[in-house]
Amino acid sequence: MKRTLVILLIAVLLASCGGGKSEGQSTTTATPTTEAQVQKVDLSQVPEEWPKLNEELATKGEQLFAQKGCNACHMVSDQKLVGPGLKGLNERTTYRWSMAMILNPDSMLKNDERAKQLLKEYGTPMPNQRITFEEAEAILHYILKVSQ
Ligand code: HEC
Repeated sequence: MKRTLVILLIAVLLASCGGGKSEGQSTTTATPTTEAQVQKVDLSQVPEEWPKLNEELATKGEQLFAQKGCNACHMVSDQKLVGPGLKGLNERTTYRWSMAMILNPDSMLKNDERAKQLLKEYGTPMPNQRITFEEAEAILHYILKVSQ
């Protein structure tokens, strides 16, 4: 009984590994923005360009940044903590990339060149904080605000 369970587990693991690989391959033909990512979380409607600052969202985002534990690893200055300081994010990457990184860091760290580079530099993988699309938007408005 135990042995069948183990075999089953291995089979499941192998199957999920296979899935990861084909996903990786599909990104090799994609543009630098993470098409695998865009499909997975359906960020296809999210523009590359950053929106205009919405103060109300920024205020909500400031609370979420603490509530969701982002501040355990990130400063909103240009100082490093466990992860990069997030001030000026809008000058170094696109809005869509940022949404993808916050909503699905695991896949980004596997498939996206820029994310992989950051992981090399920081050594800690950013965890998935399980936040919603709307929460991520608010947080990015907060980052936009501190970057002004
Ligand atoms: C356990 C630490 C940790 C937590 C918690 C965390 N991050 Fe990260 N984050 C990182 C690290 C480390 C990186 C750099 C990439 C890597 O190594 O995975 C990163 C990268 C990023 C980037 C890209 C930064 C750049 O310069 O391009 C953004 C944006 C970001 N995180 C936002 C968030 C937000 C928003 C939250 C909260 C919902 C959050 N992070 C929670 C560790 C963390």
